[in-house]
Amino acid sequence: MKIRPFGVEEWMNRWETLAANNIAETCVDSLTLYELLDFSGRKEEILAGLMETRLTYGDITGSRRLRELITGLYDRRDPDSVLVMNGGSAANFLALFTLVNPGDRVISVWPTYQQMTSIPEAFGAQVDILPLRPENSWLPDLDELRQMARGGVNLICINNPNNPTGSLMETSLLEEIAVVAREHDAWILCDEAYRGLVHEPGVKVASMSDVYEKGVSTGSFSKVFSLAGLRSGWMTGPKEFIAEAFSRRDYTTISCGPLIDALAVVALENREKIMERNLKIIRDSVAILGEWVDSEKHINWVRPKAGTTAFLGYDLDIPSDEFCIDLLGTTGTFLLPGKCFGIEKRLRIGYAYGTETLKKGLESVSGWLRGRNS
Ligand SMILES: Cc1ncc(COP(=O)(O)O)c(C=O)c1O
Repeated sequence: MKIRPFGVEEWMNRWETLAANNIAETCVDSLTLYELLDFSGRKEEILAGLMETRLTYGDITGSRRLRELITGLYDRRDPDSVLVMNGGSAANFLALFTLVNPGDRVISVWPTYQQMTSIPEAFGAQVDILPLRPENSWLPDLDELRQMARGGVNLICINNPNNPTGSLMETSLLEEIAVVAREHDAWILCDEAYRGLVHEPGVKVASMSDVYEKGVSTGSFSKVFSLAGLRSGWMTGPKEFIAEAFSRRDYTTISCGPLIDALAVVALENREKIMERNLKIIRDSVAILGEWVDSEKHINWVRPKAGTTAFLGYDLDIPSDEFCIDLLGTTGTFLLPGKCFGIEKRLRIGYAYGTETLKKGLESVSGWLRGRNS
């Protein structure tokens, strides 16, 4: 079985360690274990509990407490419709491993997290791209989707909020996509790794798994909870689907382990405090980025509405990978080239990894741009 190299991850693996100012990182400023436990106000008690935990496989499905807490992030789910995985990426993989058969037709938005296209392709599906365009605020065009679906479709893959563009599909758009899927009896897989990280206070968006009876949503502790090092995430969907995914999970995962489970419980028990911190970080950061974009005549964007990334445009005559390699070599500032998504004259910035890093990074991009034009 062949699979395309994962453009974004390969770029990060190759260059990230050389970065002095990493403004390609997609997590909200990661927490230390101390900071996580501080939110709980029960640091000593939790640490003592962890020290006494026997390192068995733990609860194979994920503890009931963890699955109940995850259920609380949704409107219409129960613990048996939730499956815990080692990260959103493992959840996406398992969902696709469960849903896709050779010869299936898959429609996926693009740009998005590359798992959504390359894994189904590797499993022998025909994958057709529903392009997200800046002139449509990086949102899917429903007429185009309807048109594409006419040929038949087994699975529609979306990502909300979207990485890399930061666009946000509101509940009404999700409902319309569900109408198209329902007409064809298709599944929808929605990667919701950034769910809840919205810029405008008060805006709430439903999960696809609550909107559509054949909707599967994946979630993660990495971005929203600033806990990528925990390697924890989950999927949720109809119970029969979860049972099928669970039986396949024996081949890849067995369990996610009791230590991760316990810390994931702490994160969810304190989710309001963590969200308050993280919403402040993303809102402050996007304001800084917005001022910078307004002041840089070679840079443009569709202002993101959610998440931690923006897909900046530039008008210089230089390929995006050369832009990023030269910028890194001369300034130590690290960005991700649009080339990783096959889209030129674009750069993905991750703006939520600390306002000081962001300011320093943006300043050095400005210096680099001035240097090219002098
Ligand atoms: C949209 C999206 N989905 C999933 C993942 C994987 O996250 P995790 O750390 O939970 O495996 C990422 C990581 O960048 C992502 O951006």
